[in-house]
Amino acid sequence: MTQHTIEVTVNGEHHSVQIPARRLLSDLLRDDLHLTGTKRGCETGICGACSVHLDGEVVKSCLMLAVQVDGRSITTIEGLGDGDTLHPLQESFMNCGGLQCGYCTPGFVMTSCAMLAHNPAPTEDEVRHGLNGNLCRCTGYTQIVESILVAAEKMRGN
Ligand code: FES
Ligand code: FES
Repeated sequence: MTQHTIEVTVNGEHHSVQIPARRLLSDLLRDDLHLTGTKRGCETGICGACSVHLDGEVVKSCLMLAVQVDGRSITTIEGLGDGDTLHPLQESFMNCGGLQCGYCTPGFVMTSCAMLAHNPAPTEDEVRHGLNGNLCRCTGYTQIVESILVAAEKMRGN
């Protein structure tokens, strides 16, 4: 199978990787770069467990080919905090009970992080609407929404 070499920056680190043309971005992250915080769920673009940032915008990594990110910049859940310091969203999901099994959580955190970058003071309805591409089988969403609203307030410095 034809191999392609791509250059990609992931969480601020440059990588040059040889991959087959049909490699998914989610597989590149998990299997080649060992960043297993990005989860595989439905692999059909429905559950959002595989959400990452591509040049600052949220994308579902199961819907992209790795060759499409050549020359671009990715942030995964591993790149969100600062060393041992969690991102306010990670802290808030933990403190507000926004996770149970945690499988969906990296996707929710990455989606809500991009959401708050565009709208730092969302209403509850806007948060719920912004999460329409992410599914959780455990929490019932109430605490996820609360986690995001609390983090948003914290990030605004209140
Ligand atoms: S694994 Fe990508 S959307 Fe479900
Ligand atoms: S916390 Fe288990 S799927 Fe969301």
